[in-house]
Amino acid sequence: MVVETRKENALDRFVTKTRELFAREPELDARWTALTPILAELLADPAVITASKSWPDCVPVDGRAENLIFYEDPDYGFAINGLTKSLARTGRSRIHDHGHIYTLYGVLDGHERIERYERVVDRRSEGYAEIKRTVDVEVSAGEIDLVRPYEVHAEQTVGERTVAIIIRSQKGGTFNQGRYDTETHVYFESLGPRQTPVEMLPTT
Ligand SMILES: [Fe+2]
Repeated sequence: MVVETRKENALDRFVTKTRELFAREPELDARWTALTPILAELLADPAVITASKSWPDCVPVDGRAENLIFYEDPDYGFAINGLTKSLARTGRSRIHDHGHIYTLYGVLDGHERIERYERVVDRRSEGYAEIKRTVDVEVSAGEIDLVRPYEVHAEQTVGERTVAIIIRSQKGGTFNQGRYDTETHVYFESLGPRQTPVEMLPTT
């Protein structure tokens, strides 16, 4: 009997290395910092870059973002997402935090702008937060942003299709994230991106 085994691909290698790291490093900040070069390898993989040209466009609906989901770890709970922003997407994306989770946001294809904010008046329990922009930087393929719990940020398109791979310590969409408005200072929370299952790489 011939048993066909699939060749190990870039996603398999990423998952193996990430699980090894999570097993040996319990301290969260150290763990997520050490994950950065492992994600960099995934972002540099030519097969992943090629496959991403065919990933479907993520479409926000009623203010709720969409993420592609490629993998959720059954033991450690981390999730591997894709985020594709088509040329058709215009307007500013919402300023937000990711609640209690750690996130690595890696640009796979194209360019975009990353904005970071800090809270200067923090009355979130009353639905009020004043924020100030502290970072506004253009990033390109291979660049990775580590977003710690409750850090305020936004990614803005720059007039081209952009693809990112996002690693989250917990799958999004099941818990609330913070939302900020620089003009009204209204703060509220709502569910994170809905998760659309997609194969990261061709299966044949
Ligand atoms: Fe985000």
